[in-house]
Amino acid sequence: MATQEQDRIRARTDGRFRLGRNWRRTTLIVHIVSAGAWIGIDVIVAVLVLTGRFGTSDDVRGLAYRALATFVVWPMLTSALICLVTGVILGLGTRWGLVRYWWVAVKLVLNLILCTLILVALQPGMDEVNEYGRAFTADTPEPAFISNLFFPPAVSLTTLTFATVLAVAKPWGRLRRRPGGRPAERTRDA
Ligand code: HEM
Repeated sequence: MATQEQDRIRARTDGRFRLGRNWRRTTLIVHIVSAGAWIGIDVIVAVLVLTGRFGTSDDVRGLAYRALATFVVWPMLTSALICLVTGVILGLGTRWGLVRYWWVAVKLVLNLILCTLILVALQPGMDEVNEYGRAFTADTPEPAFISNLFFPPAVSLTTLTFATVLAVAKPWGRLRRRPGGRPAERTRDA
């Protein structure tokens, strides 16, 4: 198991950026908290979508859609970006690297895809969702429109759960064979 002292010596000798012990811990804490916040916001989205669909009254349903449109997207994007940035710093600043191990590279791709989906697929529809929520108190809204709102929290929660499993299990080893090393080395500690 590589120690922090070994990390520091390696950093000095190979010239690469390495996080010191305290910075690594701090960055990891922010990384885990932001990932947790992101998952929590996804749960809120799921609750609001379900309340909007199956709520007991038109007022409750309208409020749920308006809350969804007003409060959700930017906190979600913020936590996703913090998770991405701290993940990249952790990758670059430890021996895990960004595209050295499969579990990190796959998380990077998933994080980028989810951030893109928030901006491209979720955010642009929020004005419509807001209008739809308002329509509940005024006239009869179009029921078919809202059905696709189930997908964002379902896709995101599944992906984030998978990313958490990857982070903990660290499967599949390295992308490329290390000179003289085993092809699928499964090192758990950086
Ligand atoms: C997609 C959302 C993500 C989730 C839910 C997530 C979750 C986590 C969790 C729970 C840990 C702690 C694992 C442990 O200590 O056993 C972790 C560590 C880590 N994550 Fe992420 N992560 C995500 C995205 C990323 C991204 C985009 C990167 C980099 C490109 C990344 C790189 C890392 C690295 C290198 C560690 C290990 C840090 C260390 O041991 O010092 N993560 N992640």
